[in-house]
Amino acid sequence: MSGQRSQQWYAGGDRNAYIHRAWMRRGLPGHAFDGRPHVAIANTASALTPCNAHLDEVARSVENGIWEAGGVPLNLPVVSLGETQVRPTAMLWRNMAAMATEEMLRANPIDGVVLLGGCDKTIPALLMAAASVDLPAVVVPGGPMLTGTFRGHPLGCGTDVWRLSEEVRAGTLTQREFTASESSMIRSRGHCNTMGTASTMGLLAEALGMSLPGIAGTPAPDSRLLELSHATGRLAVGMIAEGRRPSEVMTRASFLNAIVTLAAIGGSTNAVVHLLAIAGRLGVDLSLDDFDRTGSGVPLLVDLLPAGRHLMDDLYRAGGLLAVLREVRDLLDPEAVTVDGTPLTAHLGDARIFDEEVIRPRDRPLLHDAGIAVLRGNLAPHGAVIKPAAASPELLRHRGRALVFDSVEDARARLNDPDLDVDETSVLVLRGCGPRGYPGMPEVANLPLPPKLLARGVRDMVRVCDGRMSGTAYGTVVLHVSPEAAAGGPLGLVRTGDPIVLDVEARRLDVDLPAGELATRSPATAAVEAFANPSRGWERLYVDHVMQADTGADLDFLLGSSGHQVARESH
Ligand code: FES
Repeated sequence: MSGQRSQQWYAGGDRNAYIHRAWMRRGLPGHAFDGRPHVAIANTASALTPCNAHLDEVARSVENGIWEAGGVPLNLPVVSLGETQVRPTAMLWRNMAAMATEEMLRANPIDGVVLLGGCDKTIPALLMAAASVDLPAVVVPGGPMLTGTFRGHPLGCGTDVWRLSEEVRAGTLTQREFTASESSMIRSRGHCNTMGTASTMGLLAEALGMSLPGIAGTPAPDSRLLELSHATGRLAVGMIAEGRRPSEVMTRASFLNAIVTLAAIGGSTNAVVHLLAIAGRLGVDLSLDDFDRTGSGVPLLVDLLPAGRHLMDDLYRAGGLLAVLREVRDLLDPEAVTVDGTPLTAHLGDARIFDEEVIRPRDRPLLHDAGIAVLRGNLAPHGAVIKPAAASPELLRHRGRALVFDSVEDARARLNDPDLDVDETSVLVLRGCGPRGYPGMPEVANLPLPPKLLARGVRDMVRVCDGRMSGTAYGTVVLHVSPEAAAGGPLGLVRTGDPIVLDVEARRLDVDLPAGELATRSPATAAVEAFANPSRGWERLYVDHVMQADTGADLDFLLGSSGHQVARESH
């Protein structure tokens, strides 16, 4: 194994090799530098990322596996993002976490990396980093928490917080009971137990081929997660020996498999942005239209909250991801390989469904078409997305008057106004929420409905936004409108009262104005004044370089893989 990258630091008798070895001898035996692979464990454990707080224990199992296989494990704490804690939105720092991890992987004497993530942005950021450095890499998804119950009923993270708070407003739950439910909501270690973004990205990491087949969805407290983490450590050493890199695993075929998986599990729309960003790091030709083309006609097989009934614990008990993939095997590309070098489809032979209420067989899907539709038109020249399965069928073809909000704050200030000029046919337009405008593309697209319409029994309306939507939410919401208003997109030119036409079947989103009318308009002053204009630091760098949602909202200078060349010496 003397050809290891780490040997460029450690081999030889000169002063530099002396320095590199000497400082690493705190606990490492002399034979650690004899040419065996050095494996970083990129660890997003943090007390401020509750979903990932258990990853230090997972890291110890990975370490044991690496030692056992003849490698040297090196714990590498990396930037962590706790979805519920950081403000204004964790997405503002996904690219920063990816960039910082990439740089540390490249700067340090390592030959490969095990990626430990969980909470929403952590697995996407780690995969982006690994794609850019292109050293052998494998993901351990931290896993979902166990299902908590309150007053005898299971609680779905996120989704049930909204439901219980509505009960308080309705007077059917006391404030004291509401507070008491807090400790039941988060029953154990692990990430959210609904099919939100964390669950989706953990499962998609496996569908991409980037984790040990069968590990995704293993609940965080389940002893099998530690067993599989140990096996992943062993695998990482083997991958280094075989030189298997992310660019060989995450091919276009793998991304198309991930898109099929996204539809079959009913995953979060946030995965669209993340998969595009990861593909962008690898130079893989993946576009927004691939989600529509490949996802169309894929059946929804998994019945999980927020759209369905069950939780991640149930999905694991019912057979897990491999049982789902077995049902759509004919839609998967058999050429796509996993981190162990074998095709993903080779791992489906023994998979079985143990509970058909949670995982539906192919001939009894929850929906026949669970794909994401990509819309274009004079309101979204570069595209926008909608999840028809999460929308109201009667609104998929709709014409209505725009009611425009120039910012999240504007919407908050006016939505509750009993005199608001709105009815159930109105289209709620929210702008200034794209990657650049907010900044960070917050999950606000599913605007709450005006109370006066709620009181009349209205439960859904067409909403159009350049921001994102939580993976735990649903409704007739057009998201990720590109270009966003803050990047000069036509969404910034719409005025209250303009007729908006949505036609999902025709894949169109337009404002029905005389030809040339939009070109005569200037962006609304209130909207422009609300756009983010940070003066310094990461936010300034981000706003100056972030790309639009239709290409993954990465920074423009991070596109493409720059590999893992050795940093210059300075000693
Ligand atoms: Fe971390 Fe939901 S808050 S996954």
